[in-house]
Amino acid sequence: MFKRYRRLRINETLRGLVAETTLSKNDFIYPLFVREGEGIKTEVSSMPGVFQMSIDEILKECEYLISIDLKAIILFAIPDVKDSVGSECLCEESIISRTIRAIKEKYPEMFVVTDLCFCEYTDHGHCGILDPVSQTVDNDKTLEISAQQAVIHAKAGADMIAPSGMMDGIIETLRTALDANGFENLPIMSYSTKFASSYYGPFRDVAESTPSFGDRRSYQMNPANRLEAIEESLEDERQGADILMVKPALSYLDIIRDIRNESRLPLCVYNVSGEYAMLKNAGAAGLIDYEKVMMETLMSFKRAGANLIITYHAKEACELLNS
Ligand code: PBG
Ligand code: ZN
Repeated sequence: MFKRYRRLRINETLRGLVAETTLSKNDFIYPLFVREGEGIKTEVSSMPGVFQMSIDEILKECEYLISIDLKAIILFAIPDVKDSVGSECLCEESIISRTIRAIKEKYPEMFVVTDLCFCEYTDHGHCGILDPVSQTVDNDKTLEISAQQAVIHAKAGADMIAPSGMMDGIIETLRTALDANGFENLPIMSYSTKFASSYYGPFRDVAESTPSFGDRRSYQMNPANRLEAIEESLEDERQGADILMVKPALSYLDIIRDIRNESRLPLCVYNVSGEYAMLKNAGAAGLIDYEKVMMETLMSFKRAGANLIITYHAKEACELLNS
């Protein structure tokens, strides 16, 4: 006697009824890149379909996103002026603050997450203030200015803060600063387990945030480490993170599952630029059915245990789910 598994695969409806994992428009957060100017919408060659946009274009984009029921974005800014400590993001007239205010004024229903880091704002491209001797990022000095940046994002109207710099103690620092400024209800989504990955290459073209020397291996995680990956996320949970994250996604599905099994917090996954670029280029070359591979890939993140997905595919996925 053998079991006939094919009985439950006989037609679309039955397959749907027994499906263990589903994708929905609620799962996605869509990254947007804002820069100074007007009428600017520049496609980045390494990431087809991803643009640097001025605020007016960001607003048009938000209108469209809402029309397809995609209501969560994560904002990255590309400032005109950079310096050694990233001062541009520490004032209330910074490009990121103006963008948040413009979006929330016109589209209050848009859920605006802000990426909190310094690599876009520093002239050296590292994720914080450099120690003059070691030339690595000074953890605790970076915590101080991160707290300032968080409060600025909050005052501008951000709905959630997502620190991505991999500084130790960042969650406790931000929670304390936000609470002290009356933002105790503002959630923090930690880039809690973020690897030093080569899959970030295209992002650094879009965000213009490539380090001018060295790499990020003294603060981002070694891709070889599984136990440390769990520890990093659990520590951020202990410090008060509301949502945890694994980044990148596709090469780290085991880590998503590990953290899912160890924590009961919502878990986000960041499907990063290099992963997106690979699918886009393989699709354009006629090597794969782009839409099908995209949906299969996004599904794999949910099956691995992710609840939220930051992805450059979000717009296309929602369009597909609507059709
Ligand atoms: C900034 C940041 C990076 C990404 C998100 N926030 C780049 C990096 O750490 O170098 C990568 C996103 C992507 O590749 O899509 N700290
Ligand atoms: Zn950074």
